[in-house]
Amino acid sequence: MYIHPISFLNLENYSPWPRRILGLEKWQVPVRDKSKILTEYDNDTYKLALNLWEEHFGKRDTVRPLQFYHQLDKLKAKQILENKQIYGAAENAQLISIKEDLFITDYKTACTLHYLTIANILSDILEENNIDQVFEPGCGNGINLFYLLERVNLKLAIGGEISPNAVALGNKIATKCNMAVQFQAFDYHNEKDLISACALLEGNYILFTCHSIEQVSLNDSHFIDNILRLKNPPKLVVHLEPVLDHDDVHLHSALAIKYSTINGYNQDLLSTLQNYDAQGKIKIKRFEKRIFGINAFNPTSLLVWHP
Ligand SMILES: C[S@@+](CC[C@H](N)C(=O)[O-])C[C@H]1O[C@@H](n2cnc3c(N)ncnc32)[C@H](O)[C@@H]1O
Repeated sequence: MYIHPISFLNLENYSPWPRRILGLEKWQVPVRDKSKILTEYDNDTYKLALNLWEEHFGKRDTVRPLQFYHQLDKLKAKQILENKQIYGAAENAQLISIKEDLFITDYKTACTLHYLTIANILSDILEENNIDQVFEPGCGNGINLFYLLERVNLKLAIGGEISPNAVALGNKIATKCNMAVQFQAFDYHNEKDLISACALLEGNYILFTCHSIEQVSLNDSHFIDNILRLKNPPKLVVHLEPVLDHDDVHLHSALAIKYSTINGYNQDLLSTLQNYDAQGKIKIKRFEKRIFGINAFNPTSLLVWHP
């Protein structure tokens, strides 16, 4: 394990993104439609994870969820090194950011810092508000929910995902480890999926998202309107997402905006919420920028609101 600071002008030795962002390396902006999402996540990342579970963990008598995710991170680190043409990594070096400072670390340390940061923030918010239920739309392989369940007692956690392999994996881990979490099909563009997931939660709950709204447009999905129409809306909505602020003149902000643009990521999270806040439909409670970046150019910010 290692972690060391890095100067701005050294970045290109560790990441292909500075050159792509500056337009010095050819880069095709992807169209992030359902077929792209399923190819990138369902057929690749989550299929690999499901295979790892079935071959090495599912048959054991006892397993702890984080034991599995620990091995999965190792497997992903190996995959990144083997696919230099995609990830551009010359060695096991991940360029991360903590606030506005940049560091190089190994891939597994970067993952651990990222997931612990997410779990820390969420467990504090749950405790402060005395809430013991959560729903994570776009939960991927369920890692945030299992990290959270290691730290706080939850009555029920729900994960929703568009990728069938991820839903199957989450439910297998939950059943095997006998944990209060369940996973079901969820598409941000389908209001019925939201209604069905939230109907499982009686009483107060928090809806949180982590790097999944980055994949969709709020304008296209009407996600905020759908939340506001729920019979039992969440007490709080917490976004741990790249939040782009076009009024922010910091260089880190400008790089993140460019990164998001050339990757076809969400551009309208903050502007939509600010608009709804101005109309009195929601209240934004907290906005902390670029807390941690497992990828320094796509850092996670915290944005909390309530209906
Ligand atoms: C970067 S991953 C993040 C996963 C998880 N939240 C985490 O923090 O590990 C983005 C996730 O968004 C999911 N996603 C993309 N488009 C979606 C949609 N329209 N509805 C639901 N999930 C979607 C992807 O399948 C993927 O699992």
